[in-house]
Amino acid sequence: MRISESKIEEIRSAANIVDVISEYVQLRKRGRNYIGLCPFHSEKTPSFTVSDEKQIYHCFGCHNGGNVFKFLMEYKKISFIEAVQELAEQLGIELNYDQSTFEGQTEQEILFDINTEVARYFSNNLLNDEEGQIARDYFQKRNIKVQTMRAFGLGYALNGWENLVSFLKQKNIDLEKALQLGLIGRNKDGRVYDKLAGRIIFPIFSPNGRVIAFAGRKLRDDDTGAKYINSPESMIYIKGRVLYGLSFAKDEIRKLDKAIIVEGYMDLISLYQAGVKNVVAVSGTALTDEQAQLLSRYTKNVVLLFDADTAGIAASMRSIEILLRKDFDVKIATLPSGEDPDSFVNKYGKEEFEETIKRAENFLEYQTAYYEKQGMFDEPTKAAEAIRDLVKPIAIIDDELKRNLLIKNISRKFNLREKLLEKELEKALEQEKRNVKSQPQRIYKEDSVIQKTLAPEKIKSVPPPLYNTEKEIIKLLFENDSTIIELILQNIEPETLELEIHRNVLSSIKEYFSEKGNTNPADLISLFDEDTQSYLREITIEQYTLSHTWFERHPSIDAENKLYKYAIDLIKKYKQLHFDMKIAENQRAIENADSEEIAISLMKENQELERRRRELKIDLPG
Ligand code: GTP
Ligand code: MN
Repeated sequence: MRISESKIEEIRSAANIVDVISEYVQLRKRGRNYIGLCPFHSEKTPSFTVSDEKQIYHCFGCHNGGNVFKFLMEYKKISFIEAVQELAEQLGIELNYDQSTFEGQTEQEILFDINTEVARYFSNNLLNDEEGQIARDYFQKRNIKVQTMRAFGLGYALNGWENLVSFLKQKNIDLEKALQLGLIGRNKDGRVYDKLAGRIIFPIFSPNGRVIAFAGRKLRDDDTGAKYINSPESMIYIKGRVLYGLSFAKDEIRKLDKAIIVEGYMDLISLYQAGVKNVVAVSGTALTDEQAQLLSRYTKNVVLLFDADTAGIAASMRSIEILLRKDFDVKIATLPSGEDPDSFVNKYGKEEFEETIKRAENFLEYQTAYYEKQGMFDEPTKAAEAIRDLVKPIAIIDDELKRNLLIKNISRKFNLREKLLEKELEKALEQEKRNVKSQPQRIYKEDSVIQKTLAPEKIKSVPPPLYNTEKEIIKLLFENDSTIIELILQNIEPETLELEIHRNVLSSIKEYFSEKGNTNPADLISLFDEDTQSYLREITIEQYTLSHTWFERHPSIDAENKLYKYAIDLIKKYKQLHFDMKIAENQRAIENADSEEIAISLMKENQELERRRRELKIDLPG
């Protein structure tokens, strides 16, 4: 069942987002927007904002947001299609389903659809196929209920070379795409074959619940193949950016304001079945920056629950640092040796498990206890080394008070001299300062969204005036005004923008706008990945910051032309700033020039730049 893109656009433009959301959230008008208490996280002062002009919503607290469909999907926990159907019904718009499969879909949509079909196929094998008995027995042995299998879309891949291949052919699915997704492989003589054959299947979901990849676990221990085989990375699956189970856990994580991080698929599933639902799994690898970033949208409190083996401990230690750098509060829970969360909860039940989580130690106590167990504090030389290691993560923490408490705490608990710890901490802080300096600087503290939605490594140290000008220009693209979009596209080359996110936005809009001529902000925003969308909502929905003063300085311009004039001024300013930068750069080069000749040619160049800056003109469209 597929609804055509034009129908979806028709429904979106017929619905008013303020009316739709008002049915579920009490909104009141403030400035150009409507605000209310966010239904997606608990708050006392409203940060949930709905823009009538742009037909989008955004919460400045939890960064949830999107268009009218997204709201219904999130609020009612329904799929995109269901949201479209519901709105169509309310608006009395008749839906004609598009028969021509895949036409007009984006590449990504096609891949999502293939995965969904295949997940259904695997699930059906598990639940209904005769051969699936072997997998049903396996899950029964592991205490997994049918209901849980359905909830997680678990499946079974029939044993053989081309069971899936025939299914794909029968469904007219493009085999090249299935190859891209790693569902099938191709051998030397060009024949295609099933890749996960004979394995039980775990679909891997995006945070929005779309199937982006699969993991297949071997059924028998005597199988000599890898225990798990995962889909390769693809256009829709980037391993380091995915947390298994997040789509199931995110609401509970928000509600409890806490996430438990485990290692394996089975750990998460068994815990969920037992009623512990605020869990995500890293799937055996060390936590990445991007996974921490993703999780930070839902909570800043985590409990790490990794296996007590050496690999698990090493993974905990690495994860701690990554999480601390993102301001998480990090605790570590430990299970009796030989148990993993799956085996533990099946043996001892939910209450015992929750006790274990309650007993979780602060990361530092955990590390200190670990060193103590290793006998590191018995020998003076080793002790010094251990202490140096221990204070390193403390130095990452921004809050001085927290740091001091931690130091006091471990000095008391482990009988370590507080002075010694303090001295080592001083050194570690110095080192950390140097590290931070050599890293790209984060100078936009006031712009919380940049910190929250962009990985810090993407932020270059752009001078604030230039950043603000860029940001204002990007904002103007979302004013539903084709003249302004044309003006910007004609005068600014995407590659000249400093921030990567701005470059991506401008170049995508350039392409999309020249093809479709669509200026609807909600449609434009939905072109981008989730982080970019969140950033765009946040900058576009707020009142103008710069323009505010600009408008005060230009009271005589009539309302209709205001934004256009403002855009012209911004573009001029942008170009001037670029001239200034180039001139300043040359100036520095002049001062350091090795020869008079070089210096003179640079001075000439600067004169030319000054002249062009003075005579700056911009192209007007039409
Ligand atoms: P069960 O043994 O079925 O309980 O699975 P588990 O999740 O407990 O497995 P384990 O603790 O051995 O590994 C934890 C996680 O690491 C798994 O869930 C996988 O995500 C990952 N993993 C384990 N073995 C492999 C492997 O051979 N290949 C890959 N790609 N991942 C693996
Ligand atoms: Mn296990």
